[in-house]
Amino acid sequence: MATIAPATLPSEIASAIVNPVAYGQWDDLKTKFRWARDNMPVGLVQAEGYMPFWAITRHEDIMTVSKDNARFLNAPKSVVLGPVAVQMLTHMITGGSPHLVRSLVTMDAPEHMDYRKLTQSWFMPKNLGGIEARIREIARASIDAMVATGGACDFVHQVSALYPLHVVMQILGVPHEDEPLMLKLTQEMFGGEDPDLNRARSVDLTPEQVMQFVVDAVRDFEGYFMKLAADRRASPRDDVASVIANATIDGEPISDRNAAGYYIIVAAAGHDTTSASTAGAMWALANDPEQFARIKADRSLLPGLIEEAIRWTTPVQHFMRTAAEDCEIGGQAIAKDDWLMLCYVSGNHDERVFDDPDRFDAARGPNRHVAFGAGVHQCLGLHLARMEMRILFEELLDRVESVELAGTPQRASSTFVGGPKTLPIRFVAS
Ligand code: HEM
Repeated sequence: MATIAPATLPSEIASAIVNPVAYGQWDDLKTKFRWARDNMPVGLVQAEGYMPFWAITRHEDIMTVSKDNARFLNAPKSVVLGPVAVQMLTHMITGGSPHLVRSLVTMDAPEHMDYRKLTQSWFMPKNLGGIEARIREIARASIDAMVATGGACDFVHQVSALYPLHVVMQILGVPHEDEPLMLKLTQEMFGGEDPDLNRARSVDLTPEQVMQFVVDAVRDFEGYFMKLAADRRASPRDDVASVIANATIDGEPISDRNAAGYYIIVAAAGHDTTSASTAGAMWALANDPEQFARIKADRSLLPGLIEEAIRWTTPVQHFMRTAAEDCEIGGQAIAKDDWLMLCYVSGNHDERVFDDPDRFDAARGPNRHVAFGAGVHQCLGLHLARMEMRILFEELLDRVESVELAGTPQRASSTFVGGPKTLPIRFVAS
C-alpha cells in the first residue's frame, strides 16, 4: 500500500481529542472524529502539554493494532493519555515507571499471560453461571430501591453507579460496608479531571493537582487491598481476593505491588465501565418508548440492547499503545517508540462498519463494536459485564411499565472512562 505523507491533525481536532470536556459534550467530538476517519485516519496529535501521538480512528486500524500484540505494546509508555507534566510526576513517584498502578493492562508477553491466567477462569461464563443467582438478588434490590422512589430518580445515582459496584465487590470479597469507599476511590482515580468527581470538587485544577488526587486514591486503594490480601492469605475463601492473594507464578508468590495492582484493575475496571453502559442503555430506552415497549414484550431482543448500549456508550474511550518497531498502519509510517491512541469512540461510530452510527438500534446486527478492545488484552470482564446488564434489565423490564427522560443527561468530562454521570428519569412501575 502507498504511504501517505505524514499527517498532522488540525489543531482544533487535536485539542478536542486531549480535552476531557470535549468527551462530556461529545456530539462535536464525534463530528471531529468523523473528519479524522475520512481524511486522516492515522493522524498525528500535537497538542500543547502532551507528548505527540497518533490517533487511530478507523475501526479496521483499531482492530489491527489491538490484535498485533508483538508490535504494539502496553508496557513501555503509559496506556492512558495524560499531559507531560503528569507523566513526569508518575516517573518521579514510581522511580521510573510510566504506570502508577502495575496491572494486566500495563504488562506485555510473556508476563501478561501468566498474570491473566490467574483469574481468567473466574470470569468465564461457566463460573459466572454459579453466581447468577447472587447477582440477581443484587439486581432485584437495586430495582426495589428504584421503584421505592415512587416514579422519579436519577438513574445513575440510584441504580447504575451502585449495582455493578455491589457485584464486583461480591466477586472480590470486599465487605458490603466498604463499598462506598471503593466507589469513591474509583471515581477519584478515573474522574480526576471531572469537577463533580475529583477529590476537591474543583474545576480549575493544574495537572499536578489532578495527579495528586489520583495518586492519593491509588495509595488508599493499595493500603486497603494489602490488608485484604493479608487476611485472605491467613484464611482463604472462595473469592477472587483469595485467588490473587495466594497466587504463585513459577512457584513464587506474586509481589504485594502486583497483587494490589490486580485488585485495583478488577475493582476499578469492573464497575465504572458497566455503570456507564447500564446508564447508556437506560438513556436510550428513555429516549425511545417504542423500543422500550418492544423489548419489554420480547426479551429475545435483550442481548441486542446490551451490545448496542455498550457500543453507543463506549465506556472506555481510549487505550494507548507503543510501537515496538518501525511499521505502517493504514498507510501511515509509524516509528519505533511512537505512541498511539486507540480511539474506541471513533471506531464505534465508523460508518464503514455501522450504518447510521449515532442511532441506537437494539436490533443492530452484526454489532462488531470495539468497546471491549481486541487481542490478548481484550476485556477480561466482558462476559460478566454482559451478564450483569442482562440480569438488571430482566428485573427492570418486569417491574417498570414505561420510562421517559425527566431532564437532560450529562456525560462525564473524562478522556478515559466516560458515560452518563446524571440521567434524570420518570417511570411508571408495573
Ligand atoms: C480491559 C472495556 C467491564 C475487567 C478492558 C479493555 C477495555 C475494556 C476497552 C482494554 C482492552 C484492550 O486493551 O484491547 C470494558 C467495558 C466494560 C468492561 C466497556 C463494561 C461494559 C469490565 C468488568 C471487569 C473488567 C466487569 C471485571 C470485573 C477488565 C480487566 C482488563 C480489562 C481486568 C485488563 C485485561 C488485560 O489487559 O488483559 N476492558 N470493560 N472489565 N477489563 Fe474491561
